Amino acid sequence: MSNFLNTLRTRHAVKNFDFSKKVLNENIEIIKESIRLSPSSYNLMPCRVIDVQDKGVRRKLKAASYNQGQITEASHLFVFCSLNTLSQDYIQKINHIREDIEGKEKDFYKGYVEFLQAIVGGKSKDDIMHWNAKQTYIALGFAMMACASLSIDSCPIEGFDAEKYSQILKLADKGLTPNVVLAVGYAQDEENLHRSPKVRLDTSDFFLDI
Ligand SMILES: Cc1cc2nc3c(=O)[nH]c(=O)nc-3n(C[C@H](O)[C@H](O)[C@H](O)COP(=O)(O)O)c2cc1C
Repeated sequence: MSNFLNTLRTRHAVKNFDFSKKVLNENIEIIKESIRLSPSSYNLMPCRVIDVQDKGVRRKLKAASYNQGQITEASHLFVFCSLNTLSQDYIQKINHIREDIEGKEKDFYKGYVEFLQAIVGGKSKDDIMHWNAKQTYIALGFAMMACASLSIDSCPIEGFDAEKYSQILKLADKGLTPNVVLAVGYAQDEENLHRSPKVRLDTSDFFLDI
């Protein structure tokens, strides 16, 4: 079996983290860099991630997450958020950054910026929020894969009250909406001993030939 598939087959969504086992900072930096490297539509990068370290805040978030233990027991907790808007200035700013990185003169991408501004300007606020939210799941997938490749456990979590998260993390002030959480750490030995086989539909159910 390829190492890559073995990694995918052996990772699982951890329910019980061992609070005493912490992920090394150097590995956290790799996970964060994987998130930063994740792609987004038109490279607009609408994903922002809150690295929640404060124990008191984690306790409040747990109460807003149906008391799921991973929120306080995992070594690290990342809240994946999306921008509430994509302003015309923001689109220009991203492309100025691109011009700098690519060594192009300022406004090299002016025409492209105008094209993007027209596309985004034609979308409703709800459509933009939905579009931005979808991009955060790509970053989540990259982070989960980074964890798996480092033999670090994780659990994606959507079971939380987004309004309460917004209040606790003051996300409205930052122009952000919380979409999904990733708890990162190491599973309790007991959970590793009793891992269930992976449950997935057959390949023929996933892939439909036309
Ligand atoms: C977007 C998303 C949200 C999830 N939310 C939760 C959650 O709130 N709590 C939880 O324990 N597991 C959650 N899971 C884990 C799934 O239940 C789990 O990934 C699925 O059952 C497949 O199992 P596996 O990841 O171990 O292969 C979530 C998974 C995803 C992808």
